[in-house]
Amino acid sequence: MADAIQIRDLSKVYRNYFTKEDILAVDSLNLDINEGEIFGFLGPNGAGKTTTIKMLLGLIFPTSGKATVLGKPAGDIEVKRRISYLPESPYFYEYMSGMEALVFYARLFGMSRAESEKKADKLLAQVGLAQAKSKSLREYSKGMLQRIGIAQALVNDPSLLFLDEPTSGLDPIAHMDIRDLIVSLREQGKTVFLSSHQLTDVEMVCDRVSIMVAGKLLKMGSVDELLKGGATEIVARKLSKDALEQLRSIAHNVDEKDSDKVVCLTPDEKSQQAVCIVVESRGEIVSITPQRSTLEDIFIRTVREAEK
Ligand SMILES: Nc1ncnc2c1ncn2[C@@H]1O[C@H](COP(=O)(O)OP(=O)(O)OP(=O)(O)O)[C@@H](O)[C@H]1O
Ligand SMILES: [Mg+2]
Repeated sequence: MADAIQIRDLSKVYRNYFTKEDILAVDSLNLDINEGEIFGFLGPNGAGKTTTIKMLLGLIFPTSGKATVLGKPAGDIEVKRRISYLPESPYFYEYMSGMEALVFYARLFGMSRAESEKKADKLLAQVGLAQAKSKSLREYSKGMLQRIGIAQALVNDPSLLFLDEPTSGLDPIAHMDIRDLIVSLREQGKTVFLSSHQLTDVEMVCDRVSIMVAGKLLKMGSVDELLKGGATEIVARKLSKDALEQLRSIAHNVDEKDSDKVVCLTPDEKSQQAVCIVVESRGEIVSITPQRSTLEDIFIRTVREAEK
């Protein structure tokens, strides 16, 4: 599969001209984004996510390193027609209606008035704003503005979308709608670079995920890769001394709840062996429960470790 984005040793230093203090916002970042994937770009506040996105869009320049987007250097004019951006705090002309705003953006891409109106109608329906198309944006709720932002990012039918916090401020139903919309973009063969603090959304829709802390990329992999390596809890009864010994040799922890019941936490890859030990010693399995980590667990662990 081809790379939609290649990032090589990309760094950005912001200089505060008053204090003369340098802030290393992005520190030697290396990353490849595949065409057609939804890539989750995670990190706590101030990690450098927006800075990275702005460098990829050519809105700010890197201090060092380079990046290519759809095969061309970041910021290339031709490539700009094939990508789109939903900023984390989008700004809209509030006196326009939803329809007028989308027609305006479509006209900026050189579409005729008729073409623009057709496009705007289609997008308004796609993001669930058909009913509100004539209302001025001043009257839109935060969630409605977020949807207009997403519609705006689809005007040019981009191959690659940069979405910075697309679900912030949305209610649970709107969240689900936007999640479905993002998944449908992948089905159309588009690539999505998604920066978000909504870890459940990210876990549900992303093919791969990275976690950046203080400008450095600390974790990268498929959601399954990042979440695996979990443990399984096995509760058993009527275990012989010998079986208990064997379990202790393979488990993270064996807890004898009472004279009869034992709770054993094994690494996933040892869980089958543990069940065999119980069964072969004529013990009784009460329950087997996989203890799967969530993306939130991994995120918090990664950030905490980095802060140590
Ligand atoms: N224009 C700027 N001038 C100076 N420093 C900046 C500027 N923009 C960002 N920074 C600093 O760079 C670092 C990274 O900021 P950035 O906005 O990229 O983080 P982020 O990961 O997008 O955070 P958030 O999750 O809060 O949106 C922060 O320390 C921030 O204060
Ligand atoms: Mg940001």
